[in-house]
Amino acid sequence: MTKTARPSKLVDTRIILCGDNLEQLPKIPNESVDLIYIDPPFNSNRNYEVFWGEAREKRSFEDRHASTQAYLDFMRPRCVELHRVLRPEGSFFFHCDWHASHYVKVMLDQIFGESHFRNEIVWCYTGPGSPGIKQFLRKHDVIFWYSKSSTKWTFNADAVRIPHHEKTKANYKPGLEGSGFMEADHVIHESGKVPEDWWNIAIAPRSKQEYLGYPTQKPLKLLDRIVRAASNENDIVLDAFCGCGTALRAAQDTNRQWIGIDISPTACRVMAKRLRDECGLPENEKLWLSGRGFIVRDLPWTEEKLRKIPPFEFENWAVIALGGIPNKAQVGDMGIDGRIYPISSMPQSSGKAAGELDFMDVWYPVQVKQMDKVGRPDIDKFEAAMMRERRTKGFFIAFDFTSEALREIDQFFRREHRIIIPLTVREILEDSLAKKLV
Ligand SMILES: C[S@@+](CC[C@H](N)C(=O)[O-])C[C@H]1O[C@@H](n2cnc3c(N)ncnc32)[C@H](O)[C@@H]1O
Repeated sequence: MTKTARPSKLVDTRIILCGDNLEQLPKIPNESVDLIYIDPPFNSNRNYEVFWGEAREKRSFEDRHASTQAYLDFMRPRCVELHRVLRPEGSFFFHCDWHASHYVKVMLDQIFGESHFRNEIVWCYTGPGSPGIKQFLRKHDVIFWYSKSSTKWTFNADAVRIPHHEKTKANYKPGLEGSGFMEADHVIHESGKVPEDWWNIAIAPRSKQEYLGYPTQKPLKLLDRIVRAASNENDIVLDAFCGCGTALRAAQDTNRQWIGIDISPTACRVMAKRLRDECGLPENEKLWLSGRGFIVRDLPWTEEKLRKIPPFEFENWAVIALGGIPNKAQVGDMGIDGRIYPISSMPQSSGKAAGELDFMDVWYPVQVKQMDKVGRPDIDKFEAAMMRERRTKGFFIAFDFTSEALREIDQFFRREHRIIIPLTVREILEDSLAKKLV
């Protein structure tokens, strides 16, 4: 059974808003939200970063300082808005890493006040090493916790206690925590101890069911601890950069109200599917109005709208939706409408500015057809373009493909060992895109 918490009178909840949070946040009233968690991408105006994995280390074509400053300039007005919507006793969690954490702390001290700083939580995890690396592996993130008030905030110690080891229990006698310190006389809380400010939690593993194919997905266990510790049942949890919706899932699981904002329509669809599949929550306006279910608002495109827009606009939409760059020339595209530059191909120090990406040779062609039945001749043309450009992988976007077209894609792979990935508009709008791209 799906649990439903009471709807808020102040603000619409159980809602995903698609759009830039700087435009969506002004719709949320002052002091209406109890807990905010954000996990913004370091370089947030790059859609493809979301889909093509950890771009961060590879972005050396941009000056580090300039990009840190750009990041802070981007984040500051958003954090000011988030501070505004936070209730007087509410809490704010900012998830970041070594790229900008020190600068973020200074910025948040200015917005919230130094005495409102509660914790610097270090989330530690492990992962594979890199051969030849000349420094320690960077395997932790930082989560800054600020409370809106400097004196009063929610902290549910009992909801997050970690059970004591049997050995510890044998040595210590139960009682009230903190009232003793000598071994054998030390009194400890029976139901476990409050966790330290460093958390050892495994990253959402690709092999496990929890992994949705979204590269920046955070583990549910991490969000569950934050939500349980810093909010109560029925409280409103807001994630303004919510990706595939881990914070929303944690809020729903623990019977909180929630609001999610994300600029990527694909992310919004991925998380809607997650809430439906994993929480059994119906996506239905009528049920939502009657206090059950959830809705997604402000999605920019529907399949119906996309059928009607001019072809070049459609091509742009499709290529950008994949994180690619549309061809500048609108005629004579020779069978290629756009290019995707996988992040792994970014040169370490080419000295090229963004916009000079043409110099890179690793790119995947994208072909777009605003039609229903892409047939074998269309695929043949794209294959010719891929052979001419010596590309090993390409994307073909349309409303639908005939079975002959799909068979030809298969044969092309057998013949030439080159991959064409057919993508339907529905897949881009709906849920399966992220999985197909990783
Ligand atoms: C690092 S991901 C968040 C991952 C999330 N914590 C999870 O576990 O799935 C950051 C998200 O912020 C979104 N984003 C970037 N800029 C945004 C903006 N201006 N407004 C709203 N969302 C934005 C991206 O589309 C991306 O999905």
